Amino acid sequence: MTRRAVSHGRFIALEGIDGSGKSTQCRLLAQALRERGHTVTETREPGGTPFGEQMREVLLGTDRGALSDAAEVYLFAAARAQLVAQVVRPALERGEWVVCDRFLDSSLAYQGVGRGVGIDAVDQANALAVAGCLPDVTIIVDMPLAVAMVRRGLGDRIEAEGGSFHERVAEGYRELATRYPDRIRVVSGSDTPGDVHARVIAELATLM
Ligand code: TMP
Repeated sequence: MTRRAVSHGRFIALEGIDGSGKSTQCRLLAQALRERGHTVTETREPGGTPFGEQMREVLLGTDRGALSDAAEVYLFAAARAQLVAQVVRPALERGEWVVCDRFLDSSLAYQGVGRGVGIDAVDQANALAVAGCLPDVTIIVDMPLAVAMVRRGLGDRIEAEGGSFHERVAEGYRELATRYPDRIRVVSGSDTPGDVHARVIAELATLM
């Protein structure tokens, strides 16, 4: 998908397998940006809008039975479309930084590779939702699967998938990093949250 210039703000997405520690890194990054005087909108996927949070319940709830792969792709895309229209694009147009806990690359890794729908097919299904509003930089917090599996919950419908699904997702993130080296950075999620945060800041130094 091609990025279209939409704003003067900066859009950063953090990505990773469940249990990678990316949500902690989102909070630390937003805090560091505010300390530097930037206005920051922190948000997450799926969610970040009232509609998106309802979609989150549908997508991650365990009591709704299996969803078809296509239904899953389009529901994540619907939540994303609303987030872009209601939160991300307006914040960027106000000149703010947007720090997003997951974005399009989650769909490419989880549905594209994890579910086997295909990266290109999921990318195309998201074109209308994203409408060119793509992160300036996506940081993948890279964590060995065995460590992440101990740290993550088993609570939601996607976390509860078997190990081979999560292996495919991890492989998906590696493939995305190779495919899009200009917009994706990988940082090691090992060591303390402070160490990982320092790596995130180093990757964003030129933008900041
Ligand atoms: P999290 O917000 O706690 O990381 O949980 C979100 C879950 O939803 C996580 O298992 C990844 C999954 N997910 C997808 O499968 N596709 C997507 O496009 C997004 C945004 C999340």
